[in-house]
Amino acid sequence: MTLDRFLQDLDRDIRAAADWGKVADYIPELGGIAPDQFGIAVALADGQVLTAGQADQEFSIQSVSKVFALACVLGRIGEQLWLRVGREPSGDRFDSILLLEQEKGRPRNPFINAGAIVVTDELLRGRSPQLTLAEILGFVRAAAEDDDIHIDKAVARSEARTGYRNAALAHYLRSFGNLRNPPDHVIGTYVHQCAIEMSCIQLARAGRVIAGLDCAPALLAPVKQRRINALMMTCGQYDGSGNFAFRVGMPAKSGVGGGLLIIAPGKASIAIWSPGLDGWGNSQMGTLAAEKLAEFTGWSVF
Ligand code: DON
Repeated sequence: MTLDRFLQDLDRDIRAAADWGKVADYIPELGGIAPDQFGIAVALADGQVLTAGQADQEFSIQSVSKVFALACVLGRIGEQLWLRVGREPSGDRFDSILLLEQEKGRPRNPFINAGAIVVTDELLRGRSPQLTLAEILGFVRAAAEDDDIHIDKAVARSEARTGYRNAALAHYLRSFGNLRNPPDHVIGTYVHQCAIEMSCIQLARAGRVIAGLDCAPALLAPVKQRRINALMMTCGQYDGSGNFAFRVGMPAKSGVGGGLLIIAPGKASIAIWSPGLDGWGNSQMGTLAAEKLAEFTGWSVF
């Protein structure tokens, strides 16, 4: 069976699901989205992009943006980042504050919210929020070779209004001296970064630079690609990372908008969207689709 045929069958099978999971409603603007939606795009090394389902429907990439912010900060300060953020899985929820006290304000990794807030704070060094967001958006657009990628300001405002946990994390980080900018300033920038909207096609194309595909624009040195992939594998789905590695075996990053960016190094960049989430806050049917794709293609790195 061809990959294209497989994707059409996958779309049909996923649509028969009885339980799609639950959409994230702690960001009110995302709470009204119907969970029973699905799209997939697979960008291959030769430049082809295969799609099925709602692959050109835009969605809020949320935490998937942390991958691109990390790429920007590694480009800016490189290894110095690790003085402020660790690179170990936390085993806790994405918005947990527990380890921050024990570990004196150094978040475990750049993908949990506390770590991503430190990354955004570092990107704000010497720059306004507008310029910082332009840098992240510029990276994503260049990676996707598509300028039609924007921030949904209503989603950003909705999260800023109700994001008490992130505000708490930012204040806590600041109390340990691991936040340089005022907490409100950092959170204002962070929620806009999370509110970038992309379709599966755009996200799969942007992921080509992390997958190191032959067709990808040269934006990220191979050593940085390897490091980002290692972090995606170990920490990309938070406390569900072990389960995802077990079932899928590829580096990936999830977002509470239901997006998933999955990397088959050297082979493909895959974006999946299905907004119903599992108990870890990762796309429920998206994970199942990723598992089936890995079985079909043999793209597990193990
Ligand atoms: O900070 C938040 O809570 C959201 N803007 C992003 C969290 C997220 O996407 C977690 N992913 N599954």
